[in-house]
Amino acid sequence: MTSPKRVAVTGAAGSICYSLLFRIASGEMFGPDQPVILQLIEIPPAMGALEGVVMELDDCAFPLLQDITLSDNPRDGFDGANAAVLVGGKPRGPGMVRADLIKENGPIFVAQGEALNDVAADDIRVAVVGNPCNTNCLIAQSNAPDIPRTRFAAMTRLDQNRTAHQLAAKAGVQVASVSHVSIWGNHSNTMYPDFYNATIDGEPVVDVISDHEWLKNDFISTIQGRGKAIIEARGSSSAASAANAALDMVREWFLGTPEGEWSNMAIVSDGSYDITEGLVFSHPVICNDGDYEIVEGVELNDFAREKIAVTEKQLLEEREVVKDLL
Ligand code: NAD
Ligand code: LMR
Repeated sequence: MTSPKRVAVTGAAGSICYSLLFRIASGEMFGPDQPVILQLIEIPPAMGALEGVVMELDDCAFPLLQDITLSDNPRDGFDGANAAVLVGGKPRGPGMVRADLIKENGPIFVAQGEALNDVAADDIRVAVVGNPCNTNCLIAQSNAPDIPRTRFAAMTRLDQNRTAHQLAAKAGVQVASVSHVSIWGNHSNTMYPDFYNATIDGEPVVDVISDHEWLKNDFISTIQGRGKAIIEARGSSSAASAANAALDMVREWFLGTPEGEWSNMAIVSDGSYDITEGLVFSHPVICNDGDYEIVEGVELNDFAREKIAVTEKQLLEEREVVKDLL
């Protein structure tokens, strides 16, 4: 019998987790043969609601779900964890940008990074979802000096999935036809969804979609502004699609990027593509068994370089704002 994976999840009584936890427990994150133990973490006022979520998890009778623990502090919650998904934190409301959350959410990731450093399992991988996720990931990683920095990544998978859908819809094809999407930089209104290197049924997107003005303008701003558009329409931020993206991200990180494809996540820059070393910056990567390699040789033209410079500058500014937390 495979030994269970301990999966710690923060913000467990919140909206994203109301979808995410059930899908982890059903086997969608680690595969149909991998038992899991869910280690759910919340803040004290949400523990009552969390008990309700646990009753529902129990009532699903998931065969792979071996145990559930509840804690209101990260030191107990991350104990022995093999994977941690850091969702907990405030979401933005209408009229806000994600960076407005820095002052409130940033400090959460200091204590969580320290706790992960001290009590997580040696093979821990940490996926950060709570916004602003790149900078929160940087904070957590900086406060966990004993964990290799390649074990931390922030979620830009939702942007990858949004990009695949927008390109497929414009070209009038199914989403499975779209490949080699890359997302560069910050999960914010400056991210650069790269259409130049993406393909549709193996052909460059720029050959299949003739409306290059749309690609350079409306397409990019749609991806950059999709989170805001959802908040305006729904009154609250994306939840089911965010949970779905977290599943895609962590599944590929552990089980591998599908053959011939790219995954995207914001990882600690090693200086590749001349991006400031140490920033948590989204790149296309190929994952295998809990490790990843940055895709090499992606051609970045002047248009791409200009966009990447903007998002890099924004991340440098965010880093400056939280420098006391690093
Ligand atoms: P939510 O308000 O419904 O739930 C958040 C939960 O986090 C709450 O239950 C809250 O009690 C809990 N929490 C707060 N501080 C905590 C702490 N210190 N430890 C543990 N739990 C804590 O919000 P949501 O819709 O689930 O969104 C969660 C976060 O995810 C937000 O910051 C949101 O902006 C972000 N998000 C990111 C992406 C992405 O693509 N990276 C997508 C969607 C949402
Ligand atoms: C999203 O992209 O949907 C999330 O980051 C939520 C937000 O604030 O936009």
